[in-house]
Amino acid sequence: MMFFPSLNRRRNRALVGYLEPYMKDRDVVLDYGCGDGELMIHLQRACGENRKAIKVTGYDPVERAVSFRRWVTIFNSLVRLPKISYSVCLLVDVVHHMGERSQTVSSDVYDSVGEEFGKAISLITPHARILIKDYVISPSPFLAFSQRSFLAFKDSITNPKEVNKSFAYFTLHQWYQLFSKFNLRLITVQDVPYLPLERVYQSIAGKPVLFLLERNHSRPSRSCFPQP
Ligand SMILES: C[S@@+](CC[C@H](N)C(=O)[O-])C[C@H]1O[C@@H](n2cnc3c(N)ncnc32)[C@H](O)[C@@H]1O
Repeated sequence: MMFFPSLNRRRNRALVGYLEPYMKDRDVVLDYGCGDGELMIHLQRACGENRKAIKVTGYDPVERAVSFRRWVTIFNSLVRLPKISYSVCLLVDVVHHMGERSQTVSSDVYDSVGEEFGKAISLITPHARILIKDYVISPSPFLAFSQRSFLAFKDSITNPKEVNKSFAYFTLHQWYQLFSKFNLRLITVQDVPYLPLERVYQSIAGKPVLFLLERNHSRPSRSCFPQP
């Protein structure tokens, strides 16, 4: 979203309004795929205004020329990321970026998204909350095709560094398959209004949603942390 700085700021402020209520005092937040970190800064500020002190750490594999790292800590390598007890993992418009290059939405993309998503999940504590903001694509093949094409076009403009990637926009069924693969329990799914730029094309884009998930402790977990 580096392309339109003021639109990006408006987007971040709007999104923070949805994310902030899910934060608790003393949460240790990992913003996975944090981009330039602006969203984290707004979120931390909004929590502070509501008397919730949160600690935020960002990870993004791409180092930004322009970043907000003066105010937040961003790591570009998972090896360097502090192994602390993250109680919240944010994945805001990130999962659809986790597909490998030149693949269509097939089982291959599932595999590569699954592999990358698994890295995020392995970093958090057993009782962490996982918040995913992303899109849900129509189950109708024709609509799905146009929604995916449109979102990919938009994402390649707003994220020029990702232009060679194969974006993975999931139907609700595909989302549930991903959650099930990682033994996650869906707590809520909330519609997120279309953000400023998105309103222009809302009839042809997927639906923006916010998923809240937790590990499903009634089944064996893949957590790297010992279970309580
Ligand atoms: C649309 S941006 C969203 C940035 C930020 N979360 C926000 O909402 O402002 C998508 C981000 O995902 C990052 N990304 C792409 N592939 C990733 C991966 N495999 N793991 C983590 N982040 C990834 C990109 O570098 C990019 O910064």
